[in-house]
Amino acid sequence: MKAKSSSWIEKAKKKAASEAVKHVKDGYIVGLGSGSTAAYAIKEMGRKILQKKWQILGVPTSYQAMQLATENGIKITTLQEYPQLDLTIDGADQIDEKLNLIKGMGGALTREKIVASVSKQVVIVADESKLVKTLGMNHSVPIEVLPFATSAVTLRIRKTKGKPCLRETSGKVGPLVTDNGNFILDVDFGPIDAPRRLDSQLKYIPGVVETGIFAGMADIVYLGTKYNAQKLRKR
Ligand code: A5P
Repeated sequence: MKAKSSSWIEKAKKKAASEAVKHVKDGYIVGLGSGSTAAYAIKEMGRKILQKKWQILGVPTSYQAMQLATENGIKITTLQEYPQLDLTIDGADQIDEKLNLIKGMGGALTREKIVASVSKQVVIVADESKLVKTLGMNHSVPIEVLPFATSAVTLRIRKTKGKPCLRETSGKVGPLVTDNGNFILDVDFGPIDAPRRLDSQLKYIPGVVETGIFAGMADIVYLGTKYNAQKLRKR
C-alpha cells in the first residue's frame, strides 16, 4: 500500500517539474532549487539542454543541486557573476492558496530565499499533498541560526509561543550543519495566520540567519497530481 502511494507522488513531482521547465528559454540564467522535486526539474533541464543545444547557466541553492546540475550537463555560475536571474524553479514543503510557502526541510532555505529574491520569476514545483489551507498546520518552520546564537534564539522563540527543536542529522552525531555552516531550528508555531508578519518578527531576532517562510515570493506553482499538473498563479 505504501509503495503504491509513494509511486504516484513521484509521478506527480515529475509532472510538476516538467511543466515548470517549459518556462526555461535558451540563454536563461536559472536558480536551481533543492529537494527531490526540484531534482526532477534539474534533470529535465539537462535533457532539454542536450536535445536543443541550449546555453543555460544555473545558480545552485545547495551542494545537492550543484552536484545534480553538473551530472546533468548544466553549467554552474554564481550570484557574484549574475546577481539577477531569469527564473528559479524550486520545491516547497507547504503551500497556501495565496502561494505563501514553508521551505527548508532540505536545509537549503537561506540560499533558496536569496536566489528566489533576485529572480524575475519564481516557479514552485510540488505534489498536491503540499497544498494546505493554512501554513504551519502539522508542519514546523525551519529557521537557520548561527551556532553561536542557537540557545539565545531558542529562548526568544519560546517566548513567542513557538516550540523549537534543533534539527539532528542521521549521517553523524549531533546537529545538522547547513551548507552555510549553521544550524536549523524546526519550530512549531501551529497555524500561521500572518506569514509575512511572523517572518519579519523572526528575522528581527539576532542570530536568525533566515526563515523558511516565503511570503509572496512564488509567482507560479505547479501542483502535480496522479494525472497532470495544476497551475496556480499569484493573485
Ligand atoms: C529544501 O531546503 C527545501 O526547501 C525543499 O525545496 C523542500 O523541502 C521540498 O523538498 P521536496 O521536493 O523533496 O519535498
